Amino acid sequence: MSAAAQAVYWLGNETLRVSAALFAENRRRLCSGLKNKDGVLPRSVVVLQGGEQKQRFCTDTDLLFRQESFFHWAFGVTEPDCFGAIDVDSGKSILVVPKLPESYATWMGEIFPKEHFKEKYAVDEVQYVCDIVDVLTNLRPALLLTLRGQNTDSGSICREASFEGISGFQVNNTLLHPVIVECRLTKTDMELEVLRYTNKISSEAHKMIMKHVKPGMKEYEMESLFQHYCYTKGGMRHTSYTCICGTGNNSSILHYGHAGAPNEKTIVDGDMCLFDMGGEYYCYSSDITCSFPANGRFTSDQRDVYEAVLKSSRAVMAAIKPGVKWTEMHRLADRVHLEELLRLGLLSGSVDAMMEVHLGSVFMPHGLGHLLGIDVHDVGGYPEGTERVNEPGLKSLRMGRLVQERMVLTVEPGIYFINHLLDQALSNPKQSCFINGAVLQRFRGFGGVRIEDDIAVTADGIELLTCVPRTVEEIEAFMADSEKTFSPVVSSQKV
Ligand code: GLY
Ligand code: MN
Ligand code: MN
Repeated sequence: MSAAAQAVYWLGNETLRVSAALFAENRRRLCSGLKNKDGVLPRSVVVLQGGEQKQRFCTDTDLLFRQESFFHWAFGVTEPDCFGAIDVDSGKSILVVPKLPESYATWMGEIFPKEHFKEKYAVDEVQYVCDIVDVLTNLRPALLLTLRGQNTDSGSICREASFEGISGFQVNNTLLHPVIVECRLTKTDMELEVLRYTNKISSEAHKMIMKHVKPGMKEYEMESLFQHYCYTKGGMRHTSYTCICGTGNNSSILHYGHAGAPNEKTIVDGDMCLFDMGGEYYCYSSDITCSFPANGRFTSDQRDVYEAVLKSSRAVMAAIKPGVKWTEMHRLADRVHLEELLRLGLLSGSVDAMMEVHLGSVFMPHGLGHLLGIDVHDVGGYPEGTERVNEPGLKSLRMGRLVQERMVLTVEPGIYFINHLLDQALSNPKQSCFINGAVLQRFRGFGGVRIEDDIAVTADGIELLTCVPRTVEEIEAFMADSEKTFSPVVSSQKV
């Protein structure tokens, strides 16, 4: 068995074993991509810098470390303050770790020798950061390839490797980013296995919440229970993003749960719940939304809106295969929503004419879905030459390219009743002419419904990774069944 196959990340119990071979394969893919890239000279060496351990503001309190995503993709290293080098011609990997001071042994634990990291991560060589200039010089590189490029979701520029003495080397900081992003775009079999696992655990956690939720409880109890399940059962110390536990009107707030609106409302009988939460294992994400009534029984309006969203979700999933345009999938979801809102009497007129004035974006202002991987909004949605469509709704779509086999994507259509968007639409004659104001009034305060699943694109369709009750009947039956699959340690708070 190779060293890479023997080195395994595992948190014991039922958690997933992830072989270091996953990262060896990623490095191999990166080197072969770089060899085919114009401008990459023979004797080029990739230099990546891992994440740094940071403290809370000016204090000495450590923030919980999570590895930088590109570095994780290439090395799978959990420790902070490292570098990694890859010789493109030979594929040789060098992990560069900090030489820790003696006091580390007092406060933080054992200081491991280089050999420990070589075995743990199955790299070819381990060196110390203080020696990085000599280590790289010994490779006689013609060019160091560092990582600089823009994240097309945040607009932020990724942090380029930097160390004292780098100015003594020939450095190119533009060639690497598009190649590594393209590698991260499609997932290997080993990566898919981890994403299946993050989805399995997160799906189970959502199901546990559906069994447990009761009017009178707090939204943050759901966040807490989700995190507890994911960590206890799945070894997931992090979630992929801040948990969104909106109930009642809060379910229309797309990224509810942030510090200004921290999942603090008491859940009320009759509320719709929209719980968007995903666990992260070894830096691989999941992103799942379940929408259901807090009391376990849909009202007729709740059923109608929910089934409209489910219809668009399933229409999109049936249409996805390699070669389709993601922007067209977004438009398909909009069209199904408008047809269903027309059927419900909320809208009237021609759906084609509604599409012309982007009426769909009033009810679904976000994009249909995004790439998923080491980042929840994974990289690669807009490579150079692919522009965002500057239309309401579509401008928020995080991926503008054709669907490819081995992409992992979220499919997350939603219908929301967001007061300020409804007011804008009503004051715009091009849109208000389609809206039946009296019927719409009934849905003010309803909140919203989002159904978010994670899928992997196969040669001719999709593999659905998420597994939770989805139809109205499945949800009602599941919530009515009192058998608990999980005994929460937190007792519910009564109001
Ligand atoms: N959880 C954020 C999103 O669905 O993209
Ligand atoms: Mn989500
Ligand atoms: Mn999402």
